Amino acid sequence: MKLIEAKDYEEMSAKAAEYLANKIHTSKKITLGLATGGTPEGTYRNLIEDYMQNDTSYRHVTTFNLDEYVGLAGDHPNSYRYFMNKKLFDHIDIQKSNTYVPRGNARDIKQECLDYEKLLEDKSGIDLQLLGIGSNGHIGFNEPGTPFDSKTHVVELTPSTREANARYFSSLEQVPTKAISMGIATIMKAREILLLVSGEKKSEALAQLLEGDITEKNPVSVLKKHLNVTIIADHAALAAK
Ligand code: GLP
Repeated sequence: MKLIEAKDYEEMSAKAAEYLANKIHTSKKITLGLATGGTPEGTYRNLIEDYMQNDTSYRHVTTFNLDEYVGLAGDHPNSYRYFMNKKLFDHIDIQKSNTYVPRGNARDIKQECLDYEKLLEDKSGIDLQLLGIGSNGHIGFNEPGTPFDSKTHVVELTPSTREANARYFSSLEQVPTKAISMGIATIMKAREILLLVSGEKKSEALAQLLEGDITEKNPVSVLKKHLNVTIIADHAALAAK
């Protein structure tokens, strides 16, 4: 794993956007795996700026998001589809039909998981997966204990993850209890992974990744088995190292 240090959140976001924009520029066709949450927001802001300043085109880009809340339609302000549209897709020239997010309101959620996994394979997989982590080491919505061989699946969210994400909702009760998430094996199939880590709250999880064992108790530790991982972490996140 390659570690790039950044001073703070802003510098991490700028470096991540530069990394992504460079890949987008230099490829004829590329499939990106995308993440939601506070961590990648700044990266998306920088990508929009880069799009406006440097005419970076996204006509050749396909995207697959990691996860979505079960029960929320794509136009629900708390859905991850909505987040992606507002924070990135609405501002760049990507074809919306080339952007995929699991459908949280699908009638048959289990079938939606199978379909999403199949679609990913049909589209030849992910070239570069952008990842954040939860403070308990989760990736996507794969909570501690998730088997490393898991594919896209329905996940029961832990109380701590629901609490961490409650800041986006009007109350904790509003936070869905389930989500659809790419599995750990799905994430590991990406040809390259870019992990972003910012802030003190993530420092323990990052230290566990850098120094701890590879164990299903700490989902992010699986990245040690991947051959092409770059971590961009800020000083606060690296404090516990
Ligand atoms: C959610 C998402 C993850 C994300 C994590 C951390 O649980 N499903 O993909 O990495 O939150 O979020 P944040 O970046 O807001 O700390």
